[in-house]
Amino acid sequence: MKITVIGSGYVGLVSGICFAKLGHEIVCVDKDESKITKLNSGAIPIFEPGLKELLSEVVAAKKISFTTNLKEALNGSITAFIAVGTPQDEDGSADLSYVLAAAKEIAELSDSYKLIVTKSTVPAGTGAKVKKLVKETNPQFDFAVASNPEFLREGAAIEDFMTPDRIVVGVEDKKSEQIFAEIYAKFPSEKLIVTDIITAELIKYASNSFLATKIAFINEMADLCEATGGNIKELSHSMGLDLRIGDKFLNPGPGFGGSCFPKDILAILNFAKEADVNLSLIYSVVSSNDKRKDQMVEKVSAILDGEVANKKIALFGLAFKANTDDIRYSPAITIAKKLAQKGGKIIAHDYEAIENSKRELAEFKNIEFCEDVYEAAKDADIIVIATEWKEYQKLDLSKIKTRKIADLRNLFDAKKMKDLGFEYHYVGGKE
Ligand code: UDX
Repeated sequence: MKITVIGSGYVGLVSGICFAKLGHEIVCVDKDESKITKLNSGAIPIFEPGLKELLSEVVAAKKISFTTNLKEALNGSITAFIAVGTPQDEDGSADLSYVLAAAKEIAELSDSYKLIVTKSTVPAGTGAKVKKLVKETNPQFDFAVASNPEFLREGAAIEDFMTPDRIVVGVEDKKSEQIFAEIYAKFPSEKLIVTDIITAELIKYASNSFLATKIAFINEMADLCEATGGNIKELSHSMGLDLRIGDKFLNPGPGFGGSCFPKDILAILNFAKEADVNLSLIYSVVSSNDKRKDQMVEKVSAILDGEVANKKIALFGLAFKANTDDIRYSPAITIAKKLAQKGGKIIAHDYEAIENSKRELAEFKNIEFCEDVYEAAKDADIIVIATEWKEYQKLDLSKIKTRKIADLRNLFDAKKMKDLGFEYHYVGGKE
């Protein structure tokens, strides 16, 4: 089946390439000419493990192409996925202007039936707004709208697409349901969850809000362990053995970041408020996560006996999580800024995110960058681990002369580190 994917950002690109891998003929559209040129040359504008190789494979199989010409891209396809950005507005609500602009263009440029699918994360009720706008734009246009939210994690996006726990589609008629059954025919049919559009839109926000809540919860349990002497690793492991709880997303750290959780929990609060529903639990998740970065900075400051100014701080990790170069809402970036504002001399390392961070941290003259992790640690008064890159766990610790370590991702075993002579601090460890 020919499928049009509008928006070649993180979601659109991964979805388009994976749809092509499933055997569909994909045309990805973007207004950014340079991005399209890059993609047509086989280059990937984002860091996502395995995506470049998969792109080469589907390009060689002539299953995917990239264009800025939406009319051409719509010709011959009955499904158009809208995968454009839904950035956060000042009030925290999701900015739908790009989604609605794409829907309008589809209405203006289509000359045959289209199933218009929002894949971008959109507030409940967006499907109805898309439908209304398309009808007003082209009253004769034969179309349906649907929702097909994605549950892709950065750094694991291909795996998440190809081995989904579930595929959620919100439809308004049987024809749409049959089209999705064909699109996702390669997956076991029981994976396809068909519901109405509003419910599909809510499932995405509810899932992300719950995952964010789970992270905030384990972070607060870490605080409790720190205060009482409890063992956070054993607590998390034992909780996770309860199948009702599950062992994922129970790793304490400096708080959740990324382009999704922080934005999505504000968006659900916003549209719930518009519906006069008070999601008090999620408000507390926002405040718990917001203050966590300050908590981490206080932790580092305490290890330095309250003296951050002029101390050399090796910061291991800038990305919001491992296996990505993405620094959007990264706790590591916030912590770097706060330590720099306290006068610390930061030497920052990351395996992928240094280039993105240089732009973000340019105003801080006391933040430097180092591609070599051992060089970054040289003569440091303290090492702060802020991103859970597995590579940090494989470091040759005999080369690390710095004794103070603030491991904000609990990558190491406290007893082993102490036996090696480190003054090792971690999240949930009794100080
Ligand atoms: C998330 C959702 O997982 C995904 O389903 C959705 O489609 C998009 O948003 P992503 O933002 O890529 O994916 O990252 P995720 O792996 O969920 O991590 C989010 C943040 O939580 C990161 O900062 C990560 O470091 C942190 N995290 C995650 C923890 O602090 N502890 C955990 O146990 C897991």
